[in-house]
Amino acid sequence: MPMAPADRLPSQITPATDAPSRETIESAPRRALAPPELAVIVPTLNERDNIAPLLARLGEALAGIAWEVVFVDDDSQDGTAELLLRLQNTMPRVRVIRRIGRRGLSSACIEGMLATGAPFLAVIDADLQHDESILPRMLETLRERDLDIVVGSRFSAGGSVGALSGRRLLLSRLGRLLSRTISRAELSDPMSGFFVLRRSFFEETVRGLSGQGFKILLDLFASAPRPVRFAEVPFTFRPRHSGESKLNALVVLDYVILLSDKLLGPSVPARFVVFSLVGLFGLVVHLLVLALAHKVLLVPFFGAQVIATFTAMTVNFNLNNRLTWRDRPLAGIDLIYGHLSFYAVCGIGAIANFQVAEMLYDHRVPWLLAGLIGALISSVWNYGVSSIVTWRQRARS
Ligand code: GDD
Ligand code: MN
Repeated sequence: MPMAPADRLPSQITPATDAPSRETIESAPRRALAPPELAVIVPTLNERDNIAPLLARLGEALAGIAWEVVFVDDDSQDGTAELLLRLQNTMPRVRVIRRIGRRGLSSACIEGMLATGAPFLAVIDADLQHDESILPRMLETLRERDLDIVVGSRFSAGGSVGALSGRRLLLSRLGRLLSRTISRAELSDPMSGFFVLRRSFFEETVRGLSGQGFKILLDLFASAPRPVRFAEVPFTFRPRHSGESKLNALVVLDYVILLSDKLLGPSVPARFVVFSLVGLFGLVVHLLVLALAHKVLLVPFFGAQVIATFTAMTVNFNLNNRLTWRDRPLAGIDLIYGHLSFYAVCGIGAIANFQVAEMLYDHRVPWLLAGLIGALISSVWNYGVSSIVTWRQRARS
């Protein structure tokens, strides 16, 4: 098969034996295109049927601009990566990053941005929900007004959420309210996943980014070392072209994690915040089961306590497995060992809790404070030890 000129190796290089000289490398044209001015970063997770229409539209919208596109695929199971790799072989504008055993819209975008040398970066969804035809205007605004970011907004004057459902709209509004607190900016659409930024601004900010979850724009604003110079360009959110949305109920958790990360800082790990929320929920379960067993089923108090304790620990184990350690959940036989080790860890935690609380109480610390300190100590213990024992990091991840 004849190679495209841009991909041909210079004839001096004979693979394996001769290492190419420095001049050879520097004079070898990697691609026949001008160096890109704009890199469009596209995170993908099962978007195969959207790739070709997206590329066609980008080509049309960006005529006259030197651009490249960096797809960041998280091990899609529908053949997206295979298609992207084929396109990369024939289209010099297309570049692909593949990640395996990793997930996350934000971190995918960050890695895409890190991989390009273009001075301007755009982030856009693969599913054609964002209106690519406004990209040139966004780029021009960024340049002419010397801004850091230009955001495609569904809410500023002239923009529209199109067919966004009522529930989504409400969630979006609530998120917007909370986000003001951490973004320190009056963004009309801080949840937008469509924006253009200057690479120099990204470089200034990248080391402070949380990279958690899917709110990359909010993360950029919240992590910038100085007030962000930004503008908004309205657009109409279109219906998804093909496939389905990846953002389910768990993204709310992602959002809580990002908020916690930005409000509490790195000294309180976001995972611990989730673990504690699960723990609080476990307390409610414990009390409900205790009431049911003791008051309704008339089980003696000690027996009812045992039932309530095991129910709460089991519920907590499973919630922690799904939420707190959702990036490395236990499965199969590990689930059984996981339950057992979690019971053991929590059992020791409970003993520590009782001992400390009792000691404090004996020293005239008020009962509520003594109880709270005991509970805090056991939750730190439970978190620390179960993260090492129950959800220990396996070699691959
Ligand atoms: N690499 C990678 N990894 N890509 C992902 C992941 C992931 O874990 N999750 C989602 N994506 C990709 C999708 O393939 C798509 O291209 C893009 O990220 C957005 O995902 P959607 O599943 O289409 O999200 P949405 O339409 O529900 O949400 C959009 O609108 C929100 C505002 O309502 C996104 O733009 C959000 O960022 C935005 O907040
Ligand atoms: Mn979408």
